[in-house]
This record gives sequence, structure tokens and C-alpha cells, in this order.
Amino acid sequence: MGSDNRARHVAIIMDGNGRWAKRHHLPRAMGHQRGVEAVRKLVRSLDSTGLECLTLYAFSSENWKRPEEEIGDLMNLMRRFIKSDLPEFVANDVRLKIIGDWKGLDPDIVKMLEDALEQTAKGSRTLAVALNYGSQQEIARAASKAAAAGEITPETIAAHLDTADLPPLDLLIRTSGEVRLSNFLLWQAAYAEMWFTDVLWPEFTPRHLAAALEEFAKRERRYGGR
Ligand code: IPE
Ligand code: IPE
Ligand code: MG
Repeated sequence: MGSDNRARHVAIIMDGNGRWAKRHHLPRAMGHQRGVEAVRKLVRSLDSTGLECLTLYAFSSENWKRPEEEIGDLMNLMRRFIKSDLPEFVANDVRLKIIGDWKGLDPDIVKMLEDALEQTAKGSRTLAVALNYGSQQEIARAASKAAAAGEITPETIAAHLDTADLPPLDLLIRTSGEVRLSNFLLWQAAYAEMWFTDVLWPEFTPRHLAAALEEFAKRERRYGGR
């Protein structure tokens, strides 16, 4: 196995919090809370994965369709998570990055995120969090910027995506048994490998990520060649 088979950038659609809660006869909010704990454990293991970047889909531009109470719970969990885990990010050399239309979130969250971005700017491994993120919207924004700068080509669009400074996406994981992209990284996934698991997000552990990475290392990527 050559070192070129090692993934640099993995993205995860963290799905199944609601079903996990239902299965355990708990309120949905508990599923989301356990989901945050799964994120925390994964971020703590980031160093041992060798990844340069882990991108997590936390809130989609379509998730606003959910009941107000659930959206409120998710936003409060976000506030609590940033507050409690930011010092750990800094200590563990994690660079936070946010993709999506996150400036459209509540002003206090935007402020917390700006502060977190500043404090973690020098980190060597990137945790990218997709917040109020929709891939079609991201591509449309990038295409407008590319047009304004003179020319629309795959390269100029890519250069204006929120992910422009991240390594190419190697592997896309989705939990909970759903097999769809739900408006996540449509452009970036053009040649990414896919890994789907029935595990519900609150039960996803660093071991599952390690298993996915192990399988990734065995895959042959051809990019249309032979
Ligand atoms: C993923 O879990 C978390 C978010 C989308 C914010 P879900 O809340 O979608 O859980 P299911 O799909 O209903 O089980
Ligand atoms: C995708 O999950 C969004 C996140 C994980 C943040 P959803 O649960 O919102 O996706 P659909 O609605 O099942 O496609
Ligand atoms: Mg879901």
C-alpha cells in the first residue's frame, strides 16, 4: 500500500440522530446531543487519522424546514459546543473552518464562530464544519464570482468554492443507511470515493472512520483513465 493511497480529506454526512433517539425512546434533542458527543470523540482522534481535513455536515440550508423547536435545539447545541470545545481545538492544533452561508446564522453565533476562527487560525489539521450549507447555492455563488472575475471554467468555479483552500475530497461518508448526497459537496465529490454505513451518527466512533479509511486505501481510483 503506497502512501499515495492515504486519504487527505474526508467529509461526513452525519445522519441518524433522530432515529437513534427514537430507537432509545428519547427526545430528538437527546439524539442531537449524543451526535455532538460523537463529533467530539472524532475530533479528538483527528491527529491519529493522519487526515489533513475532516469536513462535517452539521446543518443544511434545507434543515430550516424543520420545526422551530428542533432548529433552536440545534443552534443551542452549537453555542454550547463552541464554548466548551474551543480551548481543546486550540490545544490540539485544530484549525476550524466553516463552509456554507454561516453569516446568515444568529448574530451571536456568527460572533462566536468568528472568534473561534481567529483563535484556531494556526492549527495544522482542519476541521471544516458545514453550517447553513447547500452545495447548489455554493456552486451558484462561486459561478457568479468567477463570471465577475472574467471567465467561467471548472477551474475558476473551483477557485471560488468555500472549500477552495482545502485538499481535494478523497472520501465521502454517510451514516444511517441513507444513500444520497442531500445537497452536500456535489462539485467536490466528482471523483471522491463513497462509503455508506447503517450506523446511526450517535454511534459512529473513530473506529468506524478507521475502517472506512482502511477500505479507502484499497480502492483503485482511475479518474476516467485506465
Ligand atoms: C442528522 O440527524 C442531524 C441533522 C440533520 C442536523 P437527523 O436529525 O437528520 O436524524 P434522522 O435522519 O431524522 O434520523
Ligand atoms: C443531511 O441530513 C444534512 C445533515 C446531516 C446536516 P438530512 O437528514 O437533512 O437529509 P435528508 O433530508 O434525509 O436528505
Ligand atoms: Mg436525517
